[in-house]
Amino acid sequence: MNKNNIAIVGLSWGDEGKGKFVDYLAQKADIVVRFQGGNNAGHTVVVDDQKYKFHIMPSGALLEKEVVIANGLVVDPGVLLEEIEKIKEIGKTLNLKLSSTAHVILPFHKILDGLEEQAKGKYAAGTTKRGIGPAYADKAARWGIRIYDLVNPDLLKEKLTRLYEIKKKIICAFDPNWCDNIDEIYNEYREYGDRLRQYVVDTASYLNMQLDLGKKIIFEGAQATLLGIDHGFYPYGTSSNANALGISPGTGVPPRKIGTIIGVVKAYTSRVGQGFFPTELHDNIADQIREQGHEFGTTTGRPRRIGWLDLFNIKYSIMINGIENIVISLLDALENVDPLKICVGYELEGTKLSSWPIQPEIVEKCKPIYKDFKGWKSRSAKEWSEIARKGYDALPDEMKSYIQAIKEELNVEIAMISIGPNRSDTIVLKDDLL
Ligand code: GDP
Ligand code: IMO
Ligand code: MG
Repeated sequence: MNKNNIAIVGLSWGDEGKGKFVDYLAQKADIVVRFQGGNNAGHTVVVDDQKYKFHIMPSGALLEKEVVIANGLVVDPGVLLEEIEKIKEIGKTLNLKLSSTAHVILPFHKILDGLEEQAKGKYAAGTTKRGIGPAYADKAARWGIRIYDLVNPDLLKEKLTRLYEIKKKIICAFDPNWCDNIDEIYNEYREYGDRLRQYVVDTASYLNMQLDLGKKIIFEGAQATLLGIDHGFYPYGTSSNANALGISPGTGVPPRKIGTIIGVVKAYTSRVGQGFFPTELHDNIADQIREQGHEFGTTTGRPRRIGWLDLFNIKYSIMINGIENIVISLLDALENVDPLKICVGYELEGTKLSSWPIQPEIVEKCKPIYKDFKGWKSRSAKEWSEIARKGYDALPDEMKSYIQAIKEELNVEIAMISIGPNRSDTIVLKDDLL
């Protein structure tokens, strides 16, 4: 096992607490790298009750670690510049590298994101409207604008003008009154390029060089495996490989150098956006968990849909990522819910399925099979913090049984447990990960 590097990936529908664990592990790392997605991500880190939100900036920026936005991302330069300013405002030194081959989100991508969603009807994913899908579509069609173009005004002008002309035709087919000014877009983006130029490098060469020097790297996943473009719940997901398989194409780091892959499991399931969700709850238990877990989107503020933990689809994610170690978050948020249920399989027309059926059309027809667990009583945030300080043995017995059941069902090791949003509300069970 390569103990120098760790990848943190979500195993469900996002918002599992990746930011929190990346921040925790970053204490021992040198570099934190985002490898896919864009500012559709919302990663929250809490230190001494102070909340920090990251959308495009890797979470390691809070610890003043070197942070890398690698080639696999789609970057909204205005949002990135805002996050750069925020880091500086809180008095942190920023050490950022931005890939010259990452793609740029342009104003018309955001407009198309909204228009395409409307046209998709029941197949709409309920996107974050950040222009993620249309920017990745242009990348795949090979007329996307890359960071190198953004920081070279002549290239930007030529490529932007060409792309704008075709996008204008498409947008006007939906909305004949749409009109945007290419000169304004160009001037705005040229200025972004001027401000970002200082951070731009070939991050693939840079990261491989740092790996050869023995630097410790954390690969910070965004979104999650079930939202992934190739192995997720298509079309109700995002446009990148939001799993460990996305690391190599998204960074230029070869698979054998990646190291340990850690999957993040939330103690229940949450979902923003559309798409059937077999273990979804629609009653006051959902409201209670939503309140206790503060389940309102970091990016869009939307109330997150809530359901029981689904270990059947997580098993699929474990397979895709090759996971041997998981971390479990938000166990405290299940307090005072009794009984608790965990989904351990699906039944389709009277037959128990052997693996998660990746097709939405099949999943919709499935009935979850549950096991019941005894819940634990509620405690104050201060009491949870105190328990975290004391360690695993101090956890309520019912919570230990719940954790044990997850471990056995998934056949994995549990590396860490989180029972509160603060960095310190973390119990480490395996401290030799990095
Ligand atoms: P990410 O997108 O995977 O990084 O997750 P988000 O930050 O979007 O959502 C996770 C939310 O849960 C954030 O508000 C975190 O501060 C919070 N959080 C993380 N771990 C815990 C935990 O163990 N307990 C509680 N109560 N909150 C947590
Ligand atoms: P983090 O990194 C939860 C969802 C959207 C929508 C679908 C496609 O915070 O876990 P997109 O804007 O990417 O085209 O939307 O994916 N989605 C997320 N859900 N957490 C996220 O990121 C998400 N990023 C995208 O709600 O259903
Ligand atoms: Mg999030």
